[in-house]
Amino acid sequence: MDKYIVKGGSTLSGEVRISGSKNASLPILAGTILTGEDVILHNIPDLADIRMMLQLLEKLGKKTEWIAKNSVRITETDNSSIEAPYDIVRKMRASIAVMGPLLARRKQAKISFPGGCAIGPRPIDIHIRGMEALGTELVIQHGYIWAQAKELTGKRINLLGTHGPSVLATENVMMAAALAKGKTYIEGAAEEPEVAALGKFLNQMGAKITGLGTPIIEIEGVESLHGVEFTVIPDRIEAGTFIAAAGISGGKVHIKDVDIHHLDYPIEKFSEAGMEFELLSETELIAKAGKIRPVQIDTKPYPYFPTDMQAQIMAVVSLCEGISVIKENIFPDRFTHAAEMNRLGAEIQVDGMTAVIRGVDHLSGAAVMASDLRAGAGLVVSTLAARGLSEVLRIYHIDRGYECFEQKLQALGADIERAAQE
Ligand code: EPU
Repeated sequence: MDKYIVKGGSTLSGEVRISGSKNASLPILAGTILTGEDVILHNIPDLADIRMMLQLLEKLGKKTEWIAKNSVRITETDNSSIEAPYDIVRKMRASIAVMGPLLARRKQAKISFPGGCAIGPRPIDIHIRGMEALGTELVIQHGYIWAQAKELTGKRINLLGTHGPSVLATENVMMAAALAKGKTYIEGAAEEPEVAALGKFLNQMGAKITGLGTPIIEIEGVESLHGVEFTVIPDRIEAGTFIAAAGISGGKVHIKDVDIHHLDYPIEKFSEAGMEFELLSETELIAKAGKIRPVQIDTKPYPYFPTDMQAQIMAVVSLCEGISVIKENIFPDRFTHAAEMNRLGAEIQVDGMTAVIRGVDHLSGAAVMASDLRAGAGLVVSTLAARGLSEVLRIYHIDRGYECFEQKLQALGADIERAAQE
């Protein structure tokens, strides 16, 4: 196991290139099950979660090879396996995304039932509701979902849950519906750019999907999908993390290879927090720190402030005059970083789904522990500004979602090293 050793206080400056989106790559990789032909994907980040999905695809009869840096070729060798085993699903919940493609193409799926995780209970009832509506029979037995469908048939389905739309459930149902008989309308669909990217990928394989990026997605089922070469969108959450790093360090960072439109709302909120932005083109921006100001934030589905950027902006506003309030509306238990940030001298009080952050004038280095991916990223952002030495433990969480994180931060002038954690 590794940890980061961070000496806070460096002002970040320079350029950083954003990697391909993890949360777009994962369902797109699962979507390769929908065709027997070769698929070549570019801009796939080389991350622990991506390697886990490749391992799952191998178990499901796909040969996967890195043919260049960030490019992967997927070839089918066997079309009969249907099982996503416990050992993989317990490490990566996004494994559930193979259910739709397996049902559509192989008519059966046996998926280990995902348990809870560090950010809350994370149920899968919406996925199940969607698959049943398309004509799947499901039984939950011995920790597995056994699903089978003689034929999937298009339906009008409302996928809205108690916390709003579901990204992976929308993706799962969209993939199943791509090969279903007739038309499917997904109401209450997730509008996230990662969902739209998956839809675009499927359309390039021959699917007929419209309404992407809106709450109603319409899918006209087709007989089969063909191979394709496709480039994955940039990771907007990684970009937001570097914006936060620039903001907390008093720095100025040129962020390249992003889609600036995916960052509209976060840019608005980081601006309210005192930062300045120069949008250079559709794919480049400069993020410049200013005097940090308190903010009020409600995490919400796209296009609003993403839950996946909540810990990072919390780190920034923990260092200012005034009180910020952050309400987490997506994952009720996603505040574990607050107590760790308090170890660095922040003053954050959590009450249910609300965190009240009383700004302080400095943070001081300490050992802190990452409990999940974005909590870990938020803690690294905090330690960049904490006086003296900090250690961020359990960074395997960060390795799941940030490609070359410390190298990118080092290139911007951060004093951060990876070391073995006893
Ligand atoms: N929900 C249900 N039932 C379901 C599915 C979801 O109640 O069947 C609830 C969730 O518990 C949550 C809300 O619906 O309260 C939204 O969750 P969603 O299903 O949208 O989350 P997800 O699809 O499992 C993806 C990302 C997450 C990101 C969320 C929200 C991937 C692989 N994961 O998860 O990313 O936080 O959407 O935007 O796309 C991360 O990258 O660190 C991460 C956790």
